[in-house]
Amino acid sequence: MSKFPKLLLSLAVVGSLGGGVSFADEIKDGKKVFKKCRACHAVGKKAKNKVGPHLNDLFGRTAGALEGYKFSKAMKAAGADGLVWNNDTIDQFVTKPKKLIKKTKMAFAGLKKEKDRANLMAYLKSFDSDAGSDAAKDDKPVDKEASGEQTTKTASTTDGATQPKTASGSGGKLNIGRLALTEEVKAWDIDVRYDGQGLPPGKGTVAEGEPIFTEQCASCHGDFGEGVDRWPVLAGGQGTLEDDRPEKTIGSYWPYTSTVFDYIRRAMPFGNARSLSDDEVYALTAYVLYLNDIVEDEDFELSKENFNSIRLPNEKNFIADTRNEEPHYKPVTEPCMKDCKPEPAKLLMRARVLDVTPDGDHEGSLD
Ligand code: HEC
Ligand code: HEC
Repeated sequence: MSKFPKLLLSLAVVGSLGGGVSFADEIKDGKKVFKKCRACHAVGKKAKNKVGPHLNDLFGRTAGALEGYKFSKAMKAAGADGLVWNNDTIDQFVTKPKKLIKKTKMAFAGLKKEKDRANLMAYLKSFDSDAGSDAAKDDKPVDKEASGEQTTKTASTTDGATQPKTASGSGGKLNIGRLALTEEVKAWDIDVRYDGQGLPPGKGTVAEGEPIFTEQCASCHGDFGEGVDRWPVLAGGQGTLEDDRPEKTIGSYWPYTSTVFDYIRRAMPFGNARSLSDDEVYALTAYVLYLNDIVEDEDFELSKENFNSIRLPNEKNFIADTRNEEPHYKPVTEPCMKDCKPEPAKLLMRARVLDVTPDGDHEGSLD
């Protein structure tokens, strides 16, 4: 299975070597070589320092000088001695890192093939913003002649520009972290209110829900929601709420359809949560309603539009919590601090008489 695509891949590489090799081809092949570096190094617009420093704007950068990354002593010393990254020095370094810098912490054996190193160089160069490339912006290679060495830049002018904003300095009380992006808030904000507010667009029928349920839910909840072994029962139990052991299901107990939708969307299938599409969640909710005889037509389609028309039988038994209105819970604005009881406190009973104190020889001390 896996050999076939690989074979195709190597044919493609050989093919591209045969004809006139363009700079764009070199970059493309260099991208493949860079896979060996990718575990530790990032390039491109969102590049961060990983195990190793990011490699944007590498050409002309003093070794071991990128701010915000903790280099080995050896790499810093090499930079202090004047090592600047260019075609030649990068080539030497990636051929055999420890030969150029004996005590570097870059644990990489080296790239033996000259062709690989040349392609890699072209690829890295495409992330050099001073060379007029905007690959660092959109990750697309630029068609540009592989020029000679560029050794004029200093490290301090090149970092910063490519450093992503990370976890500090966004302000706020503690000046840590950063503000959540609108997209991030949107991705988390999936709750659905009892009145349907927050529902995503979508729809699904009972008939569409059935095969999904059979495949992804029935192994635990049973074909009819009856529950396998001790997995939760999803249907039935109507009329049992006053029993000693009530069977609380969606049909017998739950107040709102929105809870069913939200629960399935958020948490099911158990172990593979958030894998269902919105339409699948609508279809499954419709199917669970069907299992509970709340809808009876297999063609019934639940959608954002008709969602609120479906009420669960037990909704009316959920009542608003009015305890705050009882005198006992009335908010006390001015707490009483003096003469709060009309009479002085009286001793009504002793703990010993109440029989809360264990028997023993300590009686005298309690008087
Ligand atoms: C296993 C992780 C790892 C791999 C794989 C790796 N590197 Fe590194 N690289 C590092 C580390 C760690 C450093 C910092 C070395 C130091 O401080 O001594 C580094 C440093 C470098 C530097 C010096 C950067 C600077 O600012 O001084 C270059 C250039 C570099 N790597 C290129 C590459 C290339 C190209 C590849 C792929 C062919 C590669 N590395 C593969 C971990 C790795
Ligand atoms: C691997 C077993 C498993 C699978 C598969 C599974 N569930 Fe669940 N389901 C659970 C468990 C366990 C709970 C209770 C979780 C809890 O209480 O924290 C649960 C709870 C539920 C509940 C709430 C029941 C209640 O009364 O509290 C619903 C609704 C539900 N699942 C629907 C589904 C749907 C729809 C699917 C298929 C997309 C599915 N489940 C797949 C194990 C499973």
